Amino acid sequence: MNWKMNKSDANGKPEIAVFSNLEELSRAAAKKFVELAQANINPGYSFRVALSGGSTPKKLYDLLASEREPFRRAVDWNKVNFFWGDERCVAPDPDESNFRMANEHLLEPLGISPGNIHRLNGEIEPNAAAADYERFLRLFFNAPPSCFPRFDLILLGMGADGHTASLFPRTEVLSEREKLVAAPFVEKFGTHRLTLTPPVINRAANVIFQVAGADKADALRAVLEGDEQADKFPAQIVKPFDGKVFWFLDEAAAEKLTLTRKYENFTGRLRR
Ligand code: 6PG
Repeated sequence: MNWKMNKSDANGKPEIAVFSNLEELSRAAAKKFVELAQANINPGYSFRVALSGGSTPKKLYDLLASEREPFRRAVDWNKVNFFWGDERCVAPDPDESNFRMANEHLLEPLGISPGNIHRLNGEIEPNAAAADYERFLRLFFNAPPSCFPRFDLILLGMGADGHTASLFPRTEVLSEREKLVAAPFVEKFGTHRLTLTPPVINRAANVIFQVAGADKADALRAVLEGDEQADKFPAQIVKPFDGKVFWFLDEAAAEKLTLTRKYENFTGRLRR
C-alpha cells in the first residue's frame, strides 16, 4: 500500500504519485479531475478537457460517471467541453475508436449533450480530418494563426515505447511547431493516427498522465529519470510552458524509478 511522490514546484517539476493499483491511481486522477473542473468552471466559462484513449483511462471514466461515486455530483457537466488528444483513423463505432471508448464509459452515462462533444473524425481522409479539427479548435478557443489553444486539462497515457497521444518515437510530428493537429503515419501500425501536436500539449494549464503496468517501467524510467531523448521517448516532450504535469502511476509501472519519498495511500501524510 505504498506510493512515492514528488511535489511539483515553481519550476514546473512534475508531480509524481505512485499507487498500489489502477483502481487507486484512477481514483486519485478522478479527484484531481474534479478539483480542476471546479477550479475552472464559472458562470461565463466552461472546462475544456482533452480525453486520452487506449485502455488505462477506462477506470477513470467509469469512476467519474458512476452514480455510486462522489465525483459525478461534484461537477456541472453542462459546463464541460470534451475534446480528444488523439484518435485512430477509424469510424466512431469500432472497438479501436477512442471516441467510442470514452462515449461508452463517460459521455453517454453522464448524458453529455452532443454540443459539448468535439470528436476527431477518424473516418475521413487523415490530413483533412486534422485540418478540420485545427479549424474547429482555432474557432472554439478563438486562437488566431500563430496562437495556440490552451486546454484546461489534457489527459495522456504512455505506451511501453514511450509514446504519448499519437506522438510515436522518431516521427516527424515530434518537431511540429506550427500545426495544432497532425495526421502522422505510424509505421508499426501501418496506418495514420490523428493527434494534438507538442505545442498544443505544452500550452495546456494541466496535463495528467495515467500510466499502469510493468511493461511500461523501462520507458517510464527513461522518460522521468533518463537523459533527454524525446525523439526516442516522446512523452519527454510534455513540459508545459506555463502549466502543471501530474504523473499518476501504479507500483508496477514505477518499479524502476528511484524516487525517494513514500506516502501512505493518498491521504498525503508522509510515511516515516
Ligand atoms: C491511443 C492513446 C495512446 C495511449 C497509450 C497507452 O490512442 O492509443 O491515446 O497514447 O494512451 O498507447 O495505451 P494503454 O492505456 O492502452 O496502455
